[in-house]
Amino acid sequence: MNALADRIDSLWRYKDFLPLDTSTISLGEGRTPLVPLTDTVSAKLDYLMPTLSFKDRGAVMLAELARRLGPDRVVADSTGNAGTSVAAYCARAGLPCTVYVPEGTPAQKTEQIRAHGARLVAVPGGREATALAARAAADEPGVFYASHVFNPYFLHGTKTYVYELWEDLGGRLPDALAVPVGNGTLLLGAALAVAELHARGLIETRPRLIAVQAEAVSPLAAAFHAGADDLLPADPATPAAPTLAEGIAIPRPPRARQILAAVRASGGTFLTVTEDDIHDAQRDLAARGLYVETTGVACWAAVRDGGDAVRGSVVVPLCGAGLKTGMAG
Ligand SMILES: Cc1ncc(COP(=O)(O)O)c(C=O)c1O
Repeated sequence: MNALADRIDSLWRYKDFLPLDTSTISLGEGRTPLVPLTDTVSAKLDYLMPTLSFKDRGAVMLAELARRLGPDRVVADSTGNAGTSVAAYCARAGLPCTVYVPEGTPAQKTEQIRAHGARLVAVPGGREATALAARAAADEPGVFYASHVFNPYFLHGTKTYVYELWEDLGGRLPDALAVPVGNGTLLLGAALAVAELHARGLIETRPRLIAVQAEAVSPLAAAFHAGADDLLPADPATPAAPTLAEGIAIPRPPRARQILAAVRASGGTFLTVTEDDIHDAQRDLAARGLYVETTGVACWAAVRDGGDAVRGSVVVPLCGAGLKTGMAG
C-alpha cells in the first residue's frame, strides 16, 4: 500500500493492474470519497466524476484504446450515462463519436452527450433496439465500437472502484458490496477486482455481492431466485414496466450468465426495489446532502431498511448525479 502513496491522484494510480498503463486523455477520474450513512453502511460518491457518473472509470479505458487504434469514428449505445462518458472522452481524444440512446432518455443526459460534440441517435423501441442499431453501425469499416457491455477494457476501468475501496479501508474490503445491475459493468468489474486482490494475497475474505435491480425490470433477480444460471425465457405476458431507475432497466443483459455466476460465487444475493423505494431513497439522500439521480439511489433503497442480506459492513455506490434526472417528484 505504501507503494501507492506517491502515485497520481486518479484511477491511473492502479496502472500496474490495468490493461493500459497511461492515458493522455485522463480527466482526473476516480478517487471518489467514501462517507458513512449509518454505523455499518457507507456510500462511495461515484457521481463525483468528470461526467457525473461512475461510467467514466470504464469510458476512459475505451477512449484511450480507441485513441491508440485511431478509428474514423467511435460508436456507443447506452441508457445515457455510458454514452455521455464515451462522448466526453472522445471529445478529449479528438475522436468523432455517435451515441445511440433509447427514445425517452432524460433530456439532461442527451443534452450532455450533444454538448460534448457527439452525434446523438434516439432509437424507438427501447434498450434492445438501441443496442441493435449501434451494433449495425459498428459493423461499418473504420468504426470502433465503444461497447461498455462487450469490451473487457471497460470492466478493467470499473474494477478500480474496488481498488479504491481497498486502499481507503486500509487494505481490506467491506463484508458486502451493494451494486446496481443493468448490464452489470460495475458488478463484473467489482468481481474482477475481488478475484485479483484475492489471487495476489491482498485480501483474505471476499465480500458478498448484493446485486440490486428495479422490481419493474428484474430479469437477473428473477433468474437468480429461480436457481437458474441464465435468463429465464422472456414472458410476453409481463413486459418490462417503466421505472425511475432507467439506467438499470435492461430486459435481456447479454452477460447474464457471468453476472449470476459472480453473485453466487460471492455468497451474495439479488435484491429488488420498488418505485416507492427509489422515490423515498432519493429524498432521504437529498435530505442528507447527497443529490443523486434516480438510478443511482437504487442500492441505498435496497439496503437502508436492513434485512439478512445486509449484515456486516456494506458499501453502496451512488453512481450518478441528481442533476442528470432531477427529483422523482
Ligand atoms: C447511474 C447508474 N447506475 C447504475 C448503472 C448500471 O450499470 P450497468 O448497466 O453496467 O449494470 C447505470 C448504467 O447506465 C447508471 O447510469
